[in-house]
This record gives sequence, C-alpha cells and structure tokens, in this order.
Amino acid sequence: MEQWLVTGGAGFIGANFVRYALEKHDKVRIVNLDALTYAGSRANLDGLPDADRHELVHGDIGDTDLVERLFARHDFQRVVHFAAESHVDRSIHGPAAFIQTNIVGTFNLIEVARRQWENQPGDLRFLHISTDEVYGTLGPDDDAFSESTPYAPNSPYAASKASADLLVRAYHKTYGFPVVTTNCSNNYGPYQYPEKLIPLMIINALTGKPLPVYGDGRQVRDWLYIDDHCAALNAVLEQGRNGETYNIGGRCEMKNIEIVELLCRLLDEMSPRGDGASYNTQIQHVQDRPGHDRRYAVDASKITEQLDWCPQTDFPHGIRDTIRWYLANERWVNAVMNENYDDWIAVNYSDRG
Ligand code: NAD
Ligand code: TYD
Repeated sequence: MEQWLVTGGAGFIGANFVRYALEKHDKVRIVNLDALTYAGSRANLDGLPDADRHELVHGDIGDTDLVERLFARHDFQRVVHFAAESHVDRSIHGPAAFIQTNIVGTFNLIEVARRQWENQPGDLRFLHISTDEVYGTLGPDDDAFSESTPYAPNSPYAASKASADLLVRAYHKTYGFPVVTTNCSNNYGPYQYPEKLIPLMIINALTGKPLPVYGDGRQVRDWLYIDDHCAALNAVLEQGRNGETYNIGGRCEMKNIEIVELLCRLLDEMSPRGDGASYNTQIQHVQDRPGHDRRYAVDASKITEQLDWCPQTDFPHGIRDTIRWYLANERWVNAVMNENYDDWIAVNYSDRG
C-alpha cells in the first residue's frame, strides 16, 4: 500500500479528491488531516468507496507535534496539500486566519516533511494546491495567466497563497525538496460550501432569498469542473516534474451575471418556483467587493502538452450536474447552513445595500 497524506480533505476540493483517489488507486491508503473548520465536514466524506483505506485525523496543519507524529507513524509517498482558508470575502473581513493557515501552516507542514525526507530519503512528492488568484487581475484583451506571469495578488487571500507558493518554491531551490505546485481557476461541483458564487446562488434562489451580484456582475472567472480538476491533480502526481508549476483551467470564461442568469433559467426548468415567476426576479446588484479582480483566465497549455490533460466537462453539463446534486442533497445543505453560516451571511451581506 502507498501512504498518502491529504490535508484539507474534508473541504470541497479535498473531499472530492479523496473520493477520486480511492476509486482510481486501489493500492493507496489516505491519511486525511483536516481541522474541520466551518468549511470542512465529515459529511463530505460520507459513503467513501473502500472507506477502510481512509483515516480522518482531526487536527491543524500548524500543529508541529501532530504533523511530526503523522510523519513518524507513516511512510508517506505523496503529500497533497489542500488545507487553506479559501474565501476572498472572509479574507477581507478577517485576514489573520489566512496568514496563520495558508502561510504559517504551510510552512509547518513542509518543514516537517522536509526534515523527515532528509532523514529518510524516499519516493516522496509534495503537491501544493494553489490558485490563479496569485497572478492578480486581467484586462479584457490580456493573455491568459501562464506559469511565467508575474505574481500580483490583490486580496489578503491571494497574497497568503502567493506567499505559500514562494515558500514551497524556495524549498525546492534550497533543499531540493520534491515539490510540485498547481495553480487552478475557480472550481465548481458537488460539496462546495455555499459561501462561493455558484452554491450560494443555487441555495438563495431555492430559499426565496435575493441573488446578490457584486457590482455590475461583469467580472470574469474561468470555471473548472471538480472532476476535471481531480484528474489534473492525478496527472501531476503521476507524471509532473519536481520543481515545476502547472496551471489548471477550465477553458470556460464567463461573466458572473451570465452564470447567475443561467442558474436561474436551469432552476426554472429543474425546480420551478411555486408562483410561476422566474428565479431571475430575485437578482439584486449589491455593493462591489473591495479590490475585486475583474478577470481571471488560465492558459493551461503546459499541462495539456506535457501531461496530456485537458478538461472533459463542458459548463452546460457540469452546471446541470451541480444543480442536480444540490437539489438531491437537501440534508447536506441543511447541515452546513447552521448558525455559523447565518452569522457569515450577516457579516458579508447586511451592509451591501
Ligand atoms: P475549502 O474552504 O472548501 O476547504 C478547506 C479545507 O481545509 C476544510 O476542510 C478546512 O477544514 C481545512 N482547513 C482549514 N484550515 C486548516 C488547518 N489549519 N489545518 C487543517 N485543515 C484546515 O477549500 P477548497 O475550495 O476545497 O480549496 C482547497 C484548496 O484549493 C485551497 O488551498 C484553495 O486555496 C485552493 N483553490 C480553491 C479554488 C476553488 O475554486 N475552490 C480555486 C483555486 C484554488
Ligand atoms: P467566489 O465564488 O467568491 O470566488 P473568487 O472570489 O475566488 O473568484 O466569487 C466568484 C465571483 O462571483 C467573484 O467575481 C465574486 C462574485 N460573487 C458575487 O457577485 N456575489 C456573491 O455573493 C459571491 C459570493 C461572489
């Protein structure tokens, strides 16, 4: 059995990846280290295939003793590092947790991993999951972000991820530590916490609440379906080159307002409102996010050319599957929309007008 350490594997992307990896590799055992913050949940791991090859350890990547104990107990061949504070709006309201987990936590994890690897060199690879937001923002006619685009983060979240990326890079340059970094675009799909655009809009629509579009809603994001992202990460784990970074994108640039209008049309068809009106009557333009990046777009030609990966799910299919999942998983939705969730909605939306 290969031993893998996955961090943040009870969150959206991590939980989907754990499911994917257990299905794909029958000789892999996963230790999943997750602090179970508001964004992580045991329910995301319900019904895992071959669940006895998975162990959830409830703990913090910043806890040196715990991380050392895990490395002492297991001979990890892969570390797949998802754990992070991940929401831009929360980083605006409270950046401290982003510095702690994304920078200090990543430092702690990679430092323990490096020391262990130096004592017992083996077939280790550390995959650091990052974001396209480290590159900043694009104008409408600019070329998409490539791996050589300079870093220019604009939110505390993006700056904390950029800092972690640079630290991880330095560990390869200085110590020869076997790292690979991926920078991906906006993900969507099942199990995404409803603070992010797509699940928030689906759930607000179905519960009769306003659909809060920031500013003019003409900001562009490049949407990547979660299964495509998992396949890309698998390709990087198997064939990526140490010290390299790979951009991962969905080749799907869309304006926020287009997404919200499409969600309304699909919901009108898949779960019509009782009064016969369209969900789009719930759309409200609200005060914009400060420092809001206008456009993200990822040039994923490197991973396509070198690792033979490209996205397989087109947006119309991916978004229908996503809506279908939220409609079918009311219990999951009700469980994550607890008091903490209501508090966050009040903090982020009550003063936007
Ligand atoms: P998420 O917020 O859904 O999940 C994060 C997970 O990390 C949660 O399970 C949480 O409990 C855990 N966690 C947080 N702090 C921790 C700590 N100190 N120790 C251990 N666990 C901790 O995030 P996500 O959307 O699944 O994102 C995963 C990774 O992908 C992040 O690194 C994020 O920056 C990156 N990313 C996400 C997107 C996206 O669209 N969601 C896009 C680009 C990059
Ligand atoms: P989000 O899902 O928070 O991802 P990110 O900020 O990492 O791209 O937001 C996606 C886009 O949707 C972003 O341009 C902000 C916008 N947005 C809204 O217009 N309204 C909302 O309520 C949210 C959460 C996001």
